[in-house]
Amino acid sequence: MTAPLIDPFLRPISYLRVSVTDRCDFRCVYCMSENMTFLPKKELLTLEELDRLCSTFIRLGVEKLRITGGEPLVRRDILTFFRSMSRHLDSGALKELTLTTNGSQLEKFATDLAAAGVRRINVSLDTLDEGKFAQITRWGRLPQVLRGIDAAQAAGMRVKINTVALKGFNEDELFTLAEWCAARGMDLTWIEVMPMGDIGNESRLDQYWRLTDLRARLAERYRLTDLAERSGGPARYVRVEETGQKIGFITPLSHNFCESCNRVRLTCTGELFMCLGQEDNADLRAPLRAHPGDDAPLEAAIRAAISHKPKGHDFDYSRQVVDGKMSRHMSHTGG
Ligand code: GTP
Ligand code: 5AD
Ligand code: SF4
Repeated sequence: MTAPLIDPFLRPISYLRVSVTDRCDFRCVYCMSENMTFLPKKELLTLEELDRLCSTFIRLGVEKLRITGGEPLVRRDILTFFRSMSRHLDSGALKELTLTTNGSQLEKFATDLAAAGVRRINVSLDTLDEGKFAQITRWGRLPQVLRGIDAAQAAGMRVKINTVALKGFNEDELFTLAEWCAARGMDLTWIEVMPMGDIGNESRLDQYWRLTDLRARLAERYRLTDLAERSGGPARYVRVEETGQKIGFITPLSHNFCESCNRVRLTCTGELFMCLGQEDNADLRAPLRAHPGDDAPLEAAIRAAISHKPKGHDFDYSRQVVDGKMSRHMSHTGG
């Protein structure tokens, strides 16, 4: 038996998020600046290397694999990678293979993703208004994403919508979004905006909409029941009794959830980030490439990295200044 991955705070690590590219076909204003410099292609791990890394994590006890980016579906040949990873679903070692996507390429990929064993996906969508969608994503177009969501549902995948809560931007869509998701049988998760990367002139403090406030507004119209069930990520869910749907809240700012953290993040160049909100990372590309036929040094590097996993992030807006900011953009580690 291989010993499971346990961090210094006795948290078992069973969830790996893998960013397969730093590129994206959108430029969401809270995520990227308009002029981003992306990694040269030669820096990227090949899909075979990503496969070897993920398979090593799975051998060490990872049961949930989430593919992210940038936008994961813009990485060339990404389906090959999903098809290859699905062998770990077949063997039972992996319980869930999934992705977080902006939805732009889903129309093309949904059927093949479902065939590769992806049963549930998270689609980022902050507004249902075409003009606002173009404004927030800069390069995105809403109808294309809606067609992608249709395709995902038609292929039999469950869809969860992820919405970043932005003051003065989507506050007025609180109920529209909830009702739209309920009518389509989709869950919805709201996320507090985090200080990741320099994004230009927008102030995080002006954008910040506390989910405690958002929840109180929902409760004015709906009966909300707290649910104990979890999806393996940081969201806490309520059931809306009137519609039966689930609404989740990801609250890194207003309620820290780090004590139950079960995840680490791998970037497309093989850096392992132990926390979204800390700089610590370990280079896994070096042991991977130095020992092509031997995974022991890679396993040792992973265990050493996990033994340094920090207690949590230091994001904090409570003093009316942005504390704990990361210089890294969200697209680097995939959220
Ligand atoms: P499921 O529970 O499986 O639906 O997934 P998830 O919520 O872990 O994944 P998803 O990609 O939907 O995550 C949504 C967002 O939550 C991410 O993009 C991040 O913004 C945020 N998030 C996820 N994990 C963490 C974490 O460990 N720390 C912080 N601060 N934010 C996180
Ligand atoms: N704060 C919170 N969520 C963010 N995302 C991107 N940037 C931020 C941020 N600064 C979200 C996206 C997507 C997920 C990958 O991360 O909207 O849902
Ligand atoms: Fe692209 Fe997602 Fe960042 Fe938007 S949030 S720019 S879709 S990586």
